[in-house]
Amino acid sequence: MEIIHVTAECYPVAKAGGLGDVVGALPAYQIKLGHVAKVVMPMYRTKYLYSHDWEVVHKGGSNLGHWWFDYTVIREMDNAQGFDLYLIDIHGLLDREKVYGYIDDNERFVAFQIAVVDWMSKWQHRPDVVHVHDHHSGLIPFMMQHCLGFRSLSGIPSVLTIHNAQYQGQFGWDKSIFIPSWDSWKRGMLEWNNAINPLASAIKCAWKVTTVSPSYLDELRYMSNGLEELFEYEKGKCIGILNGIDDQVWDPSTDKYFDHHYRSSNAEKGKAVHKKFLCDTFGLDQGKPLIIFIGRLVGEKAADLLPAVIADSFQHIGRKMNFLVLGSGEPEVEDQLRAMLSHSWGDFSLYVGYNETLSHQMYAGADFLLMPSRVEPCGLNQMYAMRYGTIPVVRRTGGLKDTVRDLSEEGGYGITFEQATVGDITHGVWRATQLYEDNKKMKEVRKTMMKLDNSWDKSAAEYIKLYESLK
Ligand code: ADP
Ligand code: GLC
Repeated sequence: MEIIHVTAECYPVAKAGGLGDVVGALPAYQIKLGHVAKVVMPMYRTKYLYSHDWEVVHKGGSNLGHWWFDYTVIREMDNAQGFDLYLIDIHGLLDREKVYGYIDDNERFVAFQIAVVDWMSKWQHRPDVVHVHDHHSGLIPFMMQHCLGFRSLSGIPSVLTIHNAQYQGQFGWDKSIFIPSWDSWKRGMLEWNNAINPLASAIKCAWKVTTVSPSYLDELRYMSNGLEELFEYEKGKCIGILNGIDDQVWDPSTDKYFDHHYRSSNAEKGKAVHKKFLCDTFGLDQGKPLIIFIGRLVGEKAADLLPAVIADSFQHIGRKMNFLVLGSGEPEVEDQLRAMLSHSWGDFSLYVGYNETLSHQMYAGADFLLMPSRVEPCGLNQMYAMRYGTIPVVRRTGGLKDTVRDLSEEGGYGITFEQATVGDITHGVWRATQLYEDNKKMKEVRKTMMKLDNSWDKSAAEYIKLYESLK
């Protein structure tokens, strides 16, 4: 089969979060299964662009409302990622350093999607499936079926994967002229709550919809930022497929972000080297358990509760542990955490920003990873942590529920709690400190976790089965 993934992110080209990791890995695993998988994404001005060789494969143009734009499609020449990678360049819209966060993001991603569909409509052949990810490519199923100029694509099955339904990319009907001329009877296929809603449109128009974990799909039916009724209505075509991890990139025995490699058999020693490095770098105490948080400092991740959790842990459990936080996001949360640095007794530290290398070193050197998320469609951090022998302390929600089994259960290997409240999270921290004191149990849990197979092999095959059902 030939599968075309359309996405806003793909590691290592451009990554803002887990979406990048998923689209950077899944196509390679689909290729391993004997299929052809390709990725199409915007040509941002990232480091990757300048350090690889490209050839121009197509030039075209289209309208975004009254504005005519030219676009260029380039292809990476060395097949560095193991799959064909195409970037779409649109001057004035996509030629920026960051993936998101611009005032004209709606225009940027609508133009990107028009260019993708326009280019595909010029191909000599038809792919077997177009797989879109989140709202940034959510208008594509609509465009393929209902835009008058792209009717030749209407027989190609489309699949939407929802990585995060909190963000839907909606914009007002005043911008409807951005969408290339379409069958106006189909207005309802674009709309949700009186606005054009790309995610809702994709849920309506894609042939199948997947969520990145089964539990997240259950949750969306009663908590999906306004789309609850739509999920209920479309439940027949929705299925949860758990994300995997790229076990080539995320492997402590070969990780290219650090030199001191280790595996399950020498994890205690290996992890101690990384822990020492982190503790030396951040002025922490190596004798105490190291609890880390890595991620976007936003409400979804319950990052706003971190200052209170850290303060309460020190107060009620005692200064028996270190916390190290890596992330960026809401300025108030960043400020509160920064303010806590002055009360640290060498047991709390912080790195505000995005740092891929440091994240790998932290998964390697930490004892525990805290993920108290309010919403977690899948979550990759906990799976990376486990592969690196770091015990997850997570809230039982979404993909965290599907990937972490509590120690109290048969064969359990993690610490879970029910609510994203300071009390429940702090209790999780307390359980971590108790476990840390039991050296034998810590070793056992590490061994069990490091042997788990969370790679993409199984889920990549599930996606293929899904595409095949559309033939
Ligand atoms: P989400 O996509 O919701 O942010 P995931 O758990 O799926 O959450 O994926 C997050 C990814 O982004 C992981 O690869 C994690 O290591 C990485 N990450 C998040 N914040 C940072 C940061 N500040 N620095 C480096 N990597 C980060
Ligand atoms: C989203 C979700 C995260 C998931 C990732 C990859 O960003 O927030 O839970 O792991 O996408 O699917």
